[in-house]
Amino acid sequence: MHTFFLILHSWMRWVVILLGLWVWISAFGPFIGHKPYLPVHRRSGLLFMISCDLQLLIGIILYVVGGWLAGWKDMSQAMAQPAVRFFTVEHETMMIIAWILVHVGWSRVKKTQSDRQKLSRSLVFFGIALLLILLATPWPFREVARPWFRT
Ligand code: HEM
Repeated sequence: MHTFFLILHSWMRWVVILLGLWVWISAFGPFIGHKPYLPVHRRSGLLFMISCDLQLLIGIILYVVGGWLAGWKDMSQAMAQPAVRFFTVEHETMMIIAWILVHVGWSRVKKTQSDRQKLSRSLVFFGIALLLILLATPWPFREVARPWFRT
């Protein structure tokens, strides 16, 4: 069961990142060019948020079945090992902050009637969330490294 969710979580990262890039790229041109907020912007934002929700859910399952909760019993021991510290605290904390930003951003985009503000709020909230997601991902070139594509 752990392997199944690990592979799913690993591949789902690409869905989250590509949707995040789509949101940003599709909103940037219209924002600069003072163009309207279109259904494509709403759709990309919604899909990005749903993908983050799913990734959070899979992440929580992995956290429990992967035994990462054990790190909380002996925090000093967990903090001393980079990989354990990363998956016990750092990865989750940053990803949950990103997830909150996506949700706050989505509701702020919905609340305003101005097209310009809808675009700027999408760029700021979803952009910062995407940046956090990229920073908290265990890329193969990082100290805590995981493969680009898990099989
Ligand atoms: C958009 C959000 C997230 C992205 C892009 C992401 C991405 C990743 C990636 C790429 C890995 C490495 C997978 C591999 O070993 O091949 C990973 C591992 C992991 N993630 Fe996430 N993650 C996200 C959110 C979360 C959240 C919110 C949690 C927990 C609440 C979480 C818990 C974990 C755990 C526990 C592992 C290690 C699994 C293990 O080796 O046992 N992730 N994540």
